[in-house]
Amino acid sequence: NAMLQWQRTGFHFQPEKNWMNDPNGPVYYKGWYHLFYQYNPDSAIWGNKIAWGHAASRDLVRWRHLPVAMSPDQWYDINGVWSGSATVLPDGRIVMLYTGSTNASVQVQCLAFPTDPSDPLLINWTKYENNPVMYPPPGVGEKDFRDPTTAWFDGSDDTWRLVIGSKDDRHAGMVMTYKTKDFMEYELVHGLLHQVPGTGMWECIDLYPVGGVRGIDMTDAVAASSTNGGDDVLHVMKESSDDDRHDYYALGRYDGAKNTWTPLDVDADLGIGLRYDWGKFYASKTFYDPAKKRRVLWGWVGETDSERADVAKGWASLQSIPRTVVLDTKTGSNLLQWPVQEVETLRTNSTDLGRVTIDHGSVFPLSLHRATQLDIEASFRIDPLDIAATKEADIGYNCSTSGGAAGRGALGPFGLLVLADARHHGGDAERTAVYFYVARGLDGGLRTHFCHDETRSSRANDIVKRVVGNTVPVLNGEDLSVRVLVDHSIVESFAMEGRSTVTSRVYPTEAIYANAGVYLFNNATGAQVTATSLVVHEMDSSYNQAYMASM
Ligand code: FRU
Repeated sequence: NAMLQWQRTGFHFQPEKNWMNDPNGPVYYKGWYHLFYQYNPDSAIWGNKIAWGHAASRDLVRWRHLPVAMSPDQWYDINGVWSGSATVLPDGRIVMLYTGSTNASVQVQCLAFPTDPSDPLLINWTKYENNPVMYPPPGVGEKDFRDPTTAWFDGSDDTWRLVIGSKDDRHAGMVMTYKTKDFMEYELVHGLLHQVPGTGMWECIDLYPVGGVRGIDMTDAVAASSTNGGDDVLHVMKESSDDDRHDYYALGRYDGAKNTWTPLDVDADLGIGLRYDWGKFYASKTFYDPAKKRRVLWGWVGETDSERADVAKGWASLQSIPRTVVLDTKTGSNLLQWPVQEVETLRTNSTDLGRVTIDHGSVFPLSLHRATQLDIEASFRIDPLDIAATKEADIGYNCSTSGGAAGRGALGPFGLLVLADARHHGGDAERTAVYFYVARGLDGGLRTHFCHDETRSSRANDIVKRVVGNTVPVLNGEDLSVRVLVDHSIVESFAMEGRSTVTSRVYPTEAIYANAGVYLFNNATGAQVTATSLVVHEMDSSYNQAYMASM
């Protein structure tokens, strides 16, 4: 079906066919980045035969699909080889821990190793003969014990530690710590590392240090904290809330001796505060990349069309663009996520559209060759006189409930329309709006919201279309900036250098191929907006034939 084929992406990771969910065990090994993922080899929907799909890349962008790494073939994982993480030992060996769903659907933790460590592609995997290595401890539900993290070494007692998410019998999300000397025998560490009432099952926990511009390995951070207190390092904890299917993170401090992780701000605690992404993004995982000394985040971006459509097209789900993660040292209160620099090697035709002023209530078409695979960098500034003239408070703005790109206020919405019908931009034309909305609070201060409006993204009616987004910090004197990756059926935006990200899946039926366009729009009633800079890069496909042949 040609209409559905159009939805396949050019530079986002996806298997050749069938269902994918969580990223698993990302790791760098002998010059290759490895990505494993939850994969159903039989169908375009999730099932109980989930295996580990596998791909490898030299640059995190161009991937080589490899054979399935692990299948459900033992009593302890016969109902699914579920999510897990890689740990690289000091001698370079890799230990893989994953959750098995047993023949009785009990969640247990299992161990696996590369069969041939000299193979940089890590094609074959051997499951440990005495699996499983961990069972749900007393008091923990047998279906609430999954997704072990990467382990780190703690020199205070020479053990490796890792954490596993769960929930208690009163619906509090929680994290347990295990320690081990050899990855075969494990001891549950007394107490809970963290817990938040009312947040439900915590899937796919991640725990890692962040500091300035560089990524940090967890083992190195733990070693540093025992020598100098490690005060300049914070620890990010992340959980995937099974209740509402969002990835929440919080900044905090990890204390290995006390087995606690404490959020910096209790009002922005895990499960109730910050999210990695305000759109479609779940079950994410980071890894430390020793080659480029950075921490890289992957997230599962599912479909928002119907299961029927997924079966018809024969595939479901994408991975997000791999994102570097650092602490935002300017605000101190959030992370910055940004596409890995290698993504820029796919830029081909770049158009610098310079400075464009957009009057209130107007739409401005950009003239491009092709608008289905783009990397757009834009900065906006509202005329300061218009800000000063806006006296009235505009409280209670909310991306999801305030009318989206059509809901007009004095200082917003304005931004870009992508995957927009290039032939006409009338009220019923297909487009996805990526926009800012500035609201004046009762105290006179400004609050900036960054949102995606999906409600006009497709004429098809079997699709979940929402307006998503949240407030984004803007410091004095900063322009409102955004980078938008457009790739056929995904729009992935990074606002204010990555303080906030929003990912949408969209399924245009008319704004496709040469009919896809980009517009600037300003729907504010009282503000002239200038795009102070605007560069649009067309993006090559990463499954480039020449490159694949050379691998
Ligand atoms: C998250 C998740 C994990 C589990 C896996 C099964 O999406 O539910 O908790 O290990 O997917 O596919």
